[in-house]
Amino acid sequence: MRNRIARMFPTGSGRTVMLAVDHGYFMGPTRHLENARATIAPLAPHADALAVTRGILRTSVDPSVSTPILLRVSGGATVLKEDLSHEALTTTVKEALRLNVSAVALSVFVGAPHEHESLVNLAQLVEAGEDLGMPVVSITAVGKELEKRDARYLSLACRVSAEIGAHLVKTYYCDGFSKVVDGCPVPIVVAGGPKLDSEQAALELTHHAIEEGAKGIDMGRNIWQSEHPVAMLRALRAIVHEDATVREALEVFREEKTRPKVAPAEAPA
Ligand code: R5P
Repeated sequence: MRNRIARMFPTGSGRTVMLAVDHGYFMGPTRHLENARATIAPLAPHADALAVTRGILRTSVDPSVSTPILLRVSGGATVLKEDLSHEALTTTVKEALRLNVSAVALSVFVGAPHEHESLVNLAQLVEAGEDLGMPVVSITAVGKELEKRDARYLSLACRVSAEIGAHLVKTYYCDGFSKVVDGCPVPIVVAGGPKLDSEQAALELTHHAIEEGAKGIDMGRNIWQSEHPVAMLRALRAIVHEDATVREALEVFREEKTRPKVAPAEAPA
């Protein structure tokens, strides 16, 4: 278990930069993720973990890619429904082991119509994970109700996830985020949410989150919907792993975006 978690935190910073590319499981072919293989290939060498579903792992991640995998194992609802909380476990821990992933992830929907089912899913996944040495990441999902993302709500959702046994929690950054961190006894990573107005805004969000105690990010749209996704990922790494300021990270972004593109196989690890 600890070895699997350590794989996703490979640098001395004790933090992680995960690339979230699991949106298709309920959103379909999202902008810039229409061809998942093409989006993932240049970014994978720069991520500490790739968050994917098994379908994308099978079809769109080359088996030679050594980036640890965070496998999404919940699903069952799509954006066509108003209520996204009606999820079940869609992949077993046995399958996750066969796929040699580093952790499994599911969404919990605290306060939503299917709160109970999603929390029981978490409990069952933790139970199976404990048996087989597979860490579980709980994602405090809010469905379409993005306005729910305040410190009071996220503190509750993160704490409940940890109490049920999640080894890591993925949530959103919010005002008063340090309270969310203080109330959660397991490490928290933050999602980016829908694409923000600028790269600078996403770098600022990340900087605040790290300053206030996040152990990293699991970010998607603010990376691969950028016109310069590799540069964005490298700028985020500077904040998460090197404690760069936003200004320093913007410098990294500007330098990297003018760098000639290198084929994925030759990119630095
Ligand atoms: C939703 O599909 C997933 O939980 C995403 O992995 C999560 O929201 C992170 O992606 P983004 O930074 O695009 O919100």
